[in-house]
Amino acid sequence: MASPRILILGPPGAGKGTQSSNIAEEYDVEHVTTGDALRSNKEMDISDMDTEYDTPGEYMDAGDLVPDEVVNAIVDEALSQADGFVLDGYPRNLEQAEELEGMTDLDVVLSLDVDREVLVDRLTGRRVDPETGENYHVEFNMPEDEEVRERLEQRDDDNEESVQNRLDVFEENTAPVIDHYADHDGFVAIDGEQTPDDVWADIQAAIDEGV
Ligand code: AP5
Repeated sequence: MASPRILILGPPGAGKGTQSSNIAEEYDVEHVTTGDALRSNKEMDISDMDTEYDTPGEYMDAGDLVPDEVVNAIVDEALSQADGFVLDGYPRNLEQAEELEGMTDLDVVLSLDVDREVLVDRLTGRRVDPETGENYHVEFNMPEDEEVRERLEQRDDDNEESVQNRLDVFEENTAPVIDHYADHDGFVAIDGEQTPDDVWADIQAAIDEGV
């Protein structure tokens, strides 16, 4: 069986990163994530692109979208090197969706559904281990190891103001992308408010059915 080409869609905090890690491990595919790629390049000089800000980090901390030109190039490069992938964080608007169609076909399109109130709680409570990249949550999921607990950090865009803006940006720009993919043969909507294990079980069933 060829390596699957999987797209995972959903609002900020829906669990895309959490479940993409499972998919990458189980199906031995690349996890292509624009969020992590951009976080590693927050200070990149994009001033020659005639954009509002001079670095990706300024857009990200406010919860706004980084310009398409920057993001399209990152995804094109990553997908050209991947034999099978789970794509997380892209496309985030219809223009990016059109770009993606010129880059690759998709076998499975997953859409994680979670209500806005739940998303706000998940994101403002999220803490990240800077050494492993593992996600935790102050109420629902703290590490047992005290050394790990002490080094946890909050993402710059996980404060209340940025979170609300990210959710507004999602509703305006990315919700239409989900509608666009609803007709795709491999499209499956998943209830993202279940426990992480139950979400993972639904995802595995959807992928195994779709490839
Ligand atoms: P990005 O890093 O992609 O952030 P995001 O889409 O806002 O998604 P998150 O990483 O916040 O959430 P997630 O769905 O991965 O959830 P997670 O698994 O962590 O993008 C950041 C920024 O980069 C953007 O705002 C933008 O500026 C820029 N950018 C990125 N891509 C771009 C693009 N294509 N174009 C333009 N700009 C772009 O889970 C969240 C929390 O919930 C965790 O604490 C986790 O432990 C918990 N959790 C997960 N699943 C469950 C569950 N089932 N039950 C209970 N808790 C759960």
